[in-house]
Amino acid sequence: MATENSRWGKFQQVMEKNILALTLMVALVVSVGGIVEIVPLFYLDSTMEDTARNPDGSAKFPDVLWQRGEGQTLADWKPGEGVRPYSALELAGRDVYQREGCYLCHSQMIRPFRDERERYGHYSLAVESKYDHPFQWGSKRTGPDLARVGGKYSDEWHRQHLRDPRALVPESVMPRYPWFDEASIDGTGMQARMRAMRMLGVPYIDADIEAAPALVEGKTEMDAMVAYLQVLGTMINFREGRDYRE
Ligand code: HEC
Repeated sequence: MATENSRWGKFQQVMEKNILALTLMVALVVSVGGIVEIVPLFYLDSTMEDTARNPDGSAKFPDVLWQRGEGQTLADWKPGEGVRPYSALELAGRDVYQREGCYLCHSQMIRPFRDERERYGHYSLAVESKYDHPFQWGSKRTGPDLARVGGKYSDEWHRQHLRDPRALVPESVMPRYPWFDEASIDGTGMQARMRAMRMLGVPYIDADIEAAPALVEGKTEMDAMVAYLQVLGTMINFREGRDYRE
């Protein structure tokens, strides 16, 4: 027990009376705690499934990341072939998702618990957010998690739901987004965004960026949002019985 005159007692008195000292001390303690937790993650290969290795050095999960073949474009990718960069249209949808603050009500991270697995599907892998800058994990679920919403509904369901959620789910508190149908996507703007993503490490090749304006030509924000929602969680082909946890 620290008494008033012991060394700790004096330290405590200083901390309780001097707000600046207390602030500095709290900052120090919190940053040490944070650094100890975060730094090892940068050095552990096994934190990302695509860099995890078997003892013999071979890739542990070779099919979680899409390997682009010679001369292949994003359009050559098939669902389940592994995580790939978003197409220009999907990326445009993602931008709208962020602009509208969908992440304030929807998370995109399925935790490895039984109830989450039964409701949403396989828990999220780190590699699934590899090309997300910034990631959309979120911490609020006013609405359901969207990490695996891709393929759950038809495109038309999403369109109607975004225009007027209560037309499909009467008790919904989700806002209406009718303006998605009117706003068009700017192709040159998408090229700049893809270049920015490339600077952040997303492996877009020149052909992807050159093809962007033609891909988003005549598309609305609604088309982009639906394309984005429909690809969520569909990139990896989860194998039955395989344990992706380290
Ligand atoms: C105020 C909170 C709120 C915001 C903001 C919000 N949503 Fe929702 N969302 C909900 C709620 C609640 C539900 C469940 C009821 C329903 O389906 O409408 C839902 C359901 C959904 C669903 C169906 C999910 C499923 O598995 O059934 C999708 C898809 C969706 N939202 C997409 C979006 C997108 C895209 C945006 C941004 C443009 C958005 N939401 C913004 C609250 C919100």
